[in-house]
Amino acid sequence: MENEKKYAVRRIGVLTSGGDAPGMNAAVRAVVRTALYLGIEVVGIRRGWHGLINGDMFRMTAGDVARIINKGGTILYTARSQEFRTKEGRQKAYNNCRLFGLDGLVAIGGDGTFSGALALSSEFPISVVGIPGTIDNDIGCSHYSIGYDTAANTAIEAIDKIRDTMQSHERCSVIEVMGHRAGNLALYVGIATGATAVLIPEEPWDFEAHVAEKIRSARLAGRTHFMVIVAEGATRKSDGSLDDEVGNGSAGAQVADMIRAELGLDPRVTVLGHLQRGGAPSARDRVTATRMGYAAVQALAEGKTNRVIVRQDGGLKDIDMVEGLKLQNGLDEEEKAVLKAMTFSF
Ligand code: F6P
Repeated sequence: MENEKKYAVRRIGVLTSGGDAPGMNAAVRAVVRTALYLGIEVVGIRRGWHGLINGDMFRMTAGDVARIINKGGTILYTARSQEFRTKEGRQKAYNNCRLFGLDGLVAIGGDGTFSGALALSSEFPISVVGIPGTIDNDIGCSHYSIGYDTAANTAIEAIDKIRDTMQSHERCSVIEVMGHRAGNLALYVGIATGATAVLIPEEPWDFEAHVAEKIRSARLAGRTHFMVIVAEGATRKSDGSLDDEVGNGSAGAQVADMIRAELGLDPRVTVLGHLQRGGAPSARDRVTATRMGYAAVQALAEGKTNRVIVRQDGGLKDIDMVEGLKLQNGLDEEEKAVLKAMTFSF
């Protein structure tokens, strides 16, 4: 066979795992089309690692990825597999790699997805390459992960609409955006919408300094509507506690309760939730996903393993997955400084 002479892999699997993100379909499409272009066969694995354990797999053709570049979600479905965390689970998964004749895997997802891929490749002879896909954009080794741009734009569009009605009613609005452990999305969206205040999980907050003073300052400047953006995981106050006295609902509801109690306003709370994870991917997500899918197959074809395709210094490259996983998610320092200036209390 022609390919046997040219490339290190003959048949690869592709899966999506963890929270879905707009652009995952474009990445799957790119993996399939690049592989077929190189003469490599592709097997689609449904429901992430769960599907690999259960043999929920099928041979993919170009037709399977037609008309999906513009679709949100993932045609391969996704799941979070507890069984794959066990050695027994991974043994079953590897048995299916052998049964289906897979030499390599492309795993699209977040840090958890990559840890799973590494565990499998360290125990069994299978090559793995990861593609960052999560709306949280919290993969330390990559400046960008698929889905972030679309999610941010969805949140911004929704917040702009909320602002219209808040402005008309001269109200305070608390908007909770996704981000259980990462504040990247909240920070970015906060800058883009001109928020009065932004609370994120990484930085414990003090109600007086980080919310009340900013609302007061805006009021003194003549404003009569206020927008507070809260990441879903920003439940930690600077003393480390949750606010038990005024309620223990979502992070957004807690902050709204405090605004009500301390400032006498009557805020409306909107939890944007999973709205942010769906929808047609933006141009940036489609193109990044396509480029990452292409790069992932090229890496496997060249015989590489344990690699992650990352965006660093303005370009894409593949880096060692072990090294990549050591890097903690960090907030963009420049964005932090900009937000600080934009929400400064005069
Ligand atoms: O995909 C990441 C994320 O959207 C987080 O921001 C959020 O905390 C989590 O997924 C929600 O996951 P689930 O779909 O299980 O509710």
